[in-house]
Amino acid sequence: MFAAFTAETGLKMQSQSAFRSYATQRGVYDQDVTASGQAAADTDTARPGTSEHQTGLAIDISALPAKCSLAACFGETTQGTWLATNAWRFGFLLRYPADKVPITGYTYEPWHFRFVGIELATEMHSNGVSTLEEYFGLPAAPQYK
Ligand code: DAL
Ligand code: ZN
Repeated sequence: MFAAFTAETGLKMQSQSAFRSYATQRGVYDQDVTASGQAAADTDTARPGTSEHQTGLAIDISALPAKCSLAACFGETTQGTWLATNAWRFGFLLRYPADKVPITGYTYEPWHFRFVGIELATEMHSNGVSTLEEYFGLPAAPQYK
């Protein structure tokens, strides 16, 4: 995907964070709680044991050189707009869209992509289904968080 982006735009992107162990996720979450309080942290960072990053199937992507790294404005960078439009071609899903916060339970994360495989990503793209909760008929986040 990174190579295709560079071939198509002449620009670069990079991995900011991919697999995280339980201990690493605990560190990320605890840091967020310290900085923002638990209620805010719970909408930004998954509690240890529940992050997609612990499965190895999620990646946080930033521009190279970095710009709007892990910030909402990443969605307006060339990298962010290209990813939002094209990630499905490579089996990735923009996992926490801006218009689905009540469903996913997390704030907009234009940098966080979840690998679901090309077949499922293509089907979701074709059918206009943007979240796994909706695709699999799961309850919205407040019911299971
Ligand atoms: N920021 C996402 C929700 C995570 O911590 O997995
Ligand atoms: Zn992430």
